[in-house]
Amino acid sequence: MITGKTMVAGVVGRPVAHSLSPILHNAWLAEAGIDGVYVPFAPDAFGFERLANGFRGSAVRGLNVTLPFKEAALAIADKVSDRARLAAAANLITFEPNGMIHADNTDGLGLLGAFATQAPDFDVRDGGMVVIGGGGAARGAVAALLAAGAWRIWIVNRTLEKAEAIAEALGDKIRPLPLNHAASALRDAAAVINATSAGLSGEGSLDVDLSLTPPSAVIMDMVYKPLQTPFLKQARDLGRPTVDGLAMLIAQAVPSFEAFYGALPPASVDVRALALKALES
Ligand code: ATR
Repeated sequence: MITGKTMVAGVVGRPVAHSLSPILHNAWLAEAGIDGVYVPFAPDAFGFERLANGFRGSAVRGLNVTLPFKEAALAIADKVSDRARLAAAANLITFEPNGMIHADNTDGLGLLGAFATQAPDFDVRDGGMVVIGGGGAARGAVAALLAAGAWRIWIVNRTLEKAEAIAEALGDKIRPLPLNHAASALRDAAAVINATSAGLSGEGSLDVDLSLTPPSAVIMDMVYKPLQTPFLKQARDLGRPTVDGLAMLIAQAVPSFEAFYGALPPASVDVRALALKALES
């Protein structure tokens, strides 16, 4: 039941209708018996600032931010966490009672949480980390791996300049390579992370030969629609351990929930099963 004290949070994106976040957060709220609600917002392409400014100092506790507003969320904030600054994007903004907006990024925690759940023996200090991509998702992954103690990160992208720009911004542990010269990185890999949009339903697939990786390399795909991307299928056919994008989505939602409602989500809800059901429909 919605009351006058209901804590309101939500997700803002465009499109937002297929976001799984309302399903996760509302299932957790119901199980925990918290007087809270989590709703979707889809402003027009120029409407993010209007919406976020309108919520300053209001009863809305905060918002998760998804494409295409993650950079705008960082730009509008009065305070920015170190991890959001390093990722150059925010997936979480909170509204303080004094009217300020605080920007944070829990995608990195999501990435590391996904590995902890699905490849628990893996450690980012095990060897070379290979991140494929040159956009915001790739930069966020590199920032998270660095913060977790990785000491060599290959960033491999079809357009070399974008990989070079990320390496330039994030320091000398990062080595940029073009996608068609990925072999040396793949041979060195303790993990390979697909942070490109390739693999998304309707997008092209990724031209990477995972047989070059050591047999113990953990292969991760941030894409979760479909859950089994061609990239993960290649990894499984080779017998490599894998981590999927749904595990990352769920793991980034946990600290977001805590920021909105002041409590950790209850472990008793099988949110993965709920998300899988929603993905099927
Ligand atoms: P995001 O901000 O979510 O990371 P993005 O900025 O659109 O999204 O980045 C998408 C990334 O996927 C880019 O690095 C893109 O490569 P380019 O930089 O060369 O454009 C990469 N990408 C998309 N489709 C790809 C494909 N079929 N093969 C290789 N890389 C692909």
